[in-house]
Amino acid sequence: MKILAWLLFATSTHAADLVSHASAHPDGRAVFSFDASAWQSTDETRRMPVGVFDSGIGGLTVLESLLTLDAFHNDTLQPGADGTPDFAQERFIYFGDQANMPYGNYPAVNRTDYLRELIVKDAIFLLGRRFWSAEGKEPQFTKPPVKAIVIACNTATAYGLEDIRKAVAAWKIPVIVVGVVEAGARGVLESQAEGGIGVLATSGTCASGVYPRTITQTLGLAGKSVPAIAQQGSPTLAGAIEGDSAFPESVSAYALKEARALAEAYRGTKAAAPLQTIVLGCTHYPLAKNEIDAAFDELRKDAALRDLIAEKRVFVNPAEATARELFRELAKAKLRLKADEHCSIEQHQFYFSVPRVDETGVQLSADGSLDKDYKYSRAPGHLDFEDTKNVPLTPDLIPANSAKLVRERLPAVWKSLNR
Ligand code: DGL
Repeated sequence: MKILAWLLFATSTHAADLVSHASAHPDGRAVFSFDASAWQSTDETRRMPVGVFDSGIGGLTVLESLLTLDAFHNDTLQPGADGTPDFAQERFIYFGDQANMPYGNYPAVNRTDYLRELIVKDAIFLLGRRFWSAEGKEPQFTKPPVKAIVIACNTATAYGLEDIRKAVAAWKIPVIVVGVVEAGARGVLESQAEGGIGVLATSGTCASGVYPRTITQTLGLAGKSVPAIAQQGSPTLAGAIEGDSAFPESVSAYALKEARALAEAYRGTKAAAPLQTIVLGCTHYPLAKNEIDAAFDELRKDAALRDLIAEKRVFVNPAEATARELFRELAKAKLRLKADEHCSIEQHQFYFSVPRVDETGVQLSADGSLDKDYKYSRAPGHLDFEDTKNVPLTPDLIPANSAKLVRERLPAVWKSLNR
């Protein structure tokens, strides 16, 4: 397995080419580059915002945890709530690469290299100042660089965490990088549930095997026995939550299919204990937690499935553990703002990618999104060409159904988005 992972992840040179491309343009004016002189001193770096990215709105579930976490004392940094959100002084820059999502479907069509390039481009966007206004004909250069990158996407963590860490080391910049998968595995450990474990994630995340591997390691290191683990990769659920017209059925209908497939996969493990812990291994899924839980209740009505599924499930959402990890990492690097310090920007900022309709060769579908065949046939290595551009996200760019999910389930995010 180790050799396979090495072959899968070590042989791609495209992410490395992108790293060299950014190094070759240190003033950050070129596409896919950033101003390499931005991190001059620890004091200056500390005043920078924290970057958070996902393929779309899913990472907003992680941002909600970042905005609301109160797991530490803000002065002593010791564990324990103190009534003040742990990141009260910090500001966040959120980026959703919505034009290129679902990320989880690239590996199945042999486009893993392209996906890995997209993921490093996301990091470069957060590190840089370059963005587009919605109507602008030229890019602008006033977006602030970040002091930390939270990969708020399981698929991007599975395929890009190592690339981004290596890139940050190659660029010699003091930027913290945190992913969601290890946090999810720690969430399983902390849940202390007794039955079997089911991972619901994208097809790409499941194909990488990252969750079974990381959960097994985490439980093993803690001296716990490892229960049966089954996983189910969905090519549709994240897109449906996003409101993507390529996935026309309801979120509940897709959730039921995935829950059923997970239960069947769990049957294959032949475990005696029922499936109890459900890892929401895609950051979009906490937005559909009610629908997913209702799907398992529905399945238990079927006598053939009842004994496979615990009556009460324990859901693990990696978001909170990710927020705690970011707190610890910022504190350790002395990059956490103190109560009397302020970030260089007053408000959180949000960006989304949209297709560049003015570029020749970019193919669109009827609703103006990137054509699905075009999207999944692109090759890496075209580092002077952008077929999507990153623009400020306004709530009207989010499709109505998904905006409703964000409004109802992520109130702190919704409030910041509508400021
Ligand atoms: N939210 C992303 C994740 O956590 C994936 C959605 C997608 O396929 O783009 O894996």
